[in-house]
Amino acid sequence: MKNIIITGGAGFIGSHVVRLFVNKYPDYKIINLDKLTYAGNLANLKDIEDKPNYKFVKMDICDFDGVLTLMQDEKVDGIIHLAAESHVDRSIKDPFTFAQTNVMGTLSLLQAAKAYWESLPEKYEGKRFYHISTDEVYGALQMTHPEGIEPPFTTKASSGKHHLAYGEKFFTEDLKYQPHSPYSAAKASSDHFVRAFHDTFGMPTIVTNCSNNYGPYQFPEKLIPLFINNIRHRKPLPVYGKGENVRDWLYVVDHARAIDTIFHEGKIAETYNIGGFNEWKNIDIIRVLINTVDRLLGRPEGADMDLITYVTDRAGHDLRYAIDSSKLQRELGWEPSLQFEEGIEKTVRWYLDNQEWMDNVTSGDYMKYYNDMYANR
Ligand code: NAD
Ligand code: DAU
Repeated sequence: MKNIIITGGAGFIGSHVVRLFVNKYPDYKIINLDKLTYAGNLANLKDIEDKPNYKFVKMDICDFDGVLTLMQDEKVDGIIHLAAESHVDRSIKDPFTFAQTNVMGTLSLLQAAKAYWESLPEKYEGKRFYHISTDEVYGALQMTHPEGIEPPFTTKASSGKHHLAYGEKFFTEDLKYQPHSPYSAAKASSDHFVRAFHDTFGMPTIVTNCSNNYGPYQFPEKLIPLFINNIRHRKPLPVYGKGENVRDWLYVVDHARAIDTIFHEGKIAETYNIGGFNEWKNIDIIRVLINTVDRLLGRPEGADMDLITYVTDRAGHDLRYAIDSSKLQRELGWEPSLQFEEGIEKTVRWYLDNQEWMDNVTSGDYMKYYNDMYANR
């Protein structure tokens, strides 16, 4: 694989994937294809933007002709597809945009890849279409224990490792899809299209479903960066419902490492779940964030607990997500490199040390700067 398009490379996870590939594979050409929506920010890639094996192209994945021409010009043999509308709350307000980008955009990208690769003498040989998806397609899990023990309790993954969990069931690759939000419904639909292109046309596809990511460069509409910034400014922390919902958190660089492993070594037509067996109730994570920000800012630890403000719950709020990533660990040897305590400390430090990045995003200045720069390209 030499010429790779990474879609959504200016976003949160995409920027970490682009950085990893550009630095690790100097002989690959990495093309970051991104529309630069509100979630795309080229400041996320400042450290690699001048590397000779990196190229940015401002393009919508829905632009079939544009993508096909780019694939032909760059002789693209791999696509890692992350571009999407990604925020559940926005999908509740504006589902059309989610269907347009996540469903039609993915279909358009598949059609362009099919048209180009089928025009080549070798056709699909040595090619790969890797689609990045979410654990939310599986729906929501309950918080139960067969013997009625109060969660969290220690349990054993199918890999044999012990970890803390809030229920006895996990998302495994063979589970039926049961999406609840317009976001997860659109992602589920895009997953089905990707698999259909393998089954119908023989396209070499892979799908992965990952749990909640956290780390540097995440847009501050998502829980962790939003709350770190609010604690810094002593603004209220809007906790949905009772804060009892459980999410399974993975450091974003570990997700990027998994994507690298799977892109190179994953089996065609397979699905891999990615997660770190790291379940947390929202309210517990929020307390950790408050203590960490307070400590790093030299305030008395816990001084900002009174910022916690319970607000109306998110509509259709999924109770618990928990990924079983044993298959990936067993078959491809991937394991998360960071413990959560270490990852969250690094993350809080990063946001506090990069206040200019945060201020540019919250003021909207980042949009103006890059939109002007790429207006005519
Ligand atoms: P993000 O919202 O931070 O970034 C999305 C990127 O896609 C942005 O750069 C945006 O400009 C670009 N984009 C949006 N619409 C586009 C279009 N029509 N054409 C081209 N580019 C477009 O998202 P993220 O959190 O980095 O998520 C990336 C992918 O990973 C998504 O597919 C998401 O579903 C999946 N995922 C995210 C998480 C998570 O916790 N954030 C977990 C599992 C899976
Ligand atoms: O599970 C993977 C998914 O994780 C990804 O597919 C999505 O793209 C990503 O956005 C994320 O979805 P969530 O809805 O779980 O993430 P979010 O950060 O929006 O919310 C995390 C939890 O915190 C969730 O239970 C809702 C709650 N929350 C969130 C916000 C923004 C609050 O209580 N208050 C808030 O202000």
